[in-house]
Amino acid sequence: MFDLIGKTAFITGASKGIGERCAYALSSAGAKVIIAARQLDSLKSVADNIIRNGYKALPIQLDVTDKHAVNKCFDQLAQNGEVIDILINNAGISMMTPVFESKRNQQNDTKDYFQDMLQTNVMGVWYVTKAVANHMKEKCISGSIINIASVCGSNRLRANLTGYCASKAAVIQMTKALVGELATANIRINCISPGLFHTPLNDDRIGIDETRKQIEKTIPLHFIADPCEIDGAILYLSSNKASRYVTGSCLTVDGGASWGGVYDYYVFKDVVY
Ligand SMILES: NC(=O)c1ccc[n+]([C@@H]2O[C@H](COP(=O)([O-])OP(=O)(O)OC[C@H]3O[C@@H](n4cnc5c(N)ncnc54)[C@H](OP(=O)(O)O)[C@@H]3O)[C@@H](O)[C@H]2O)c1
Repeated sequence: MFDLIGKTAFITGASKGIGERCAYALSSAGAKVIIAARQLDSLKSVADNIIRNGYKALPIQLDVTDKHAVNKCFDQLAQNGEVIDILINNAGISMMTPVFESKRNQQNDTKDYFQDMLQTNVMGVWYVTKAVANHMKEKCISGSIINIASVCGSNRLRANLTGYCASKAAVIQMTKALVGELATANIRINCISPGLFHTPLNDDRIGIDETRKQIEKTIPLHFIADPCEIDGAILYLSSNKASRYVTGSCLTVDGGASWGGVYDYYVFKDVVY
């Protein structure tokens, strides 16, 4: 059911973290992976790992915020005879955007990152989705597009992260809004909302033992995910056999973090109602 032999997957932000893990998961299921990010050296070492294990990988340097570069990349891939069946829109950035100037971070960084997050997390997803959807339609591919959103885009809102939360809410709505148009070309689109995963994105925070333990108390399943916890969701939504009737869904993979009752549970656990 999860066999992807003969399929090709394009993964953005695959040089590290969740995207790198998606590349390993999809290649292990038999897909050829085309992996994209800005840092070519890191991508090459991910590709080498995959190839060493007997699977196929092609690293491509790409900045998803550059619309012209995105279109050029897919024109080039088509000219080289590549046919893309699966797209994972994973590239994303996360920075604090406190509303009060005095609350900016300790490095006195006064840059406002709201616009940067919209450009990468929203416009980047749009540029790549548009290019790949047109490619799939032209080649009559019953493709699967998976957007990596976040629980911050729905009900797990966090202080000082307004820009990130807004960008991920846009990803979720973009996913749902595209269902009808894409269905006319037999293309499915879904998103995954991860909770907290230990990746380079947040290593400075959850790499510290004490902080990690405190955060883990707020997660019903009591652990912060390693990137491999994304494997099942990615394989399920990528496979036309496993999820043929699934489009427009948002699969939450967060150990229960967005359940929201954890605080009550810990504070009132000894109270009999
Ligand atoms: N980690 C979590 O707890 C968590 C939770 C919820 C959602 N997410 C989402 O999951 C996705 C992956 O996160 P992660 O934790 O794996 O982050 P990460 O470790 O920082 O990796 C981010 C990846 O995106 C690439 N990237 C960033 N900007 C790019 C651009 N303009 N063009 C192309 N590639 C770009 C980076 O490579 P280069 O720097 O080489 O370009 C890198 O490969 C993101 O969308 C994030 O918002 C993560």
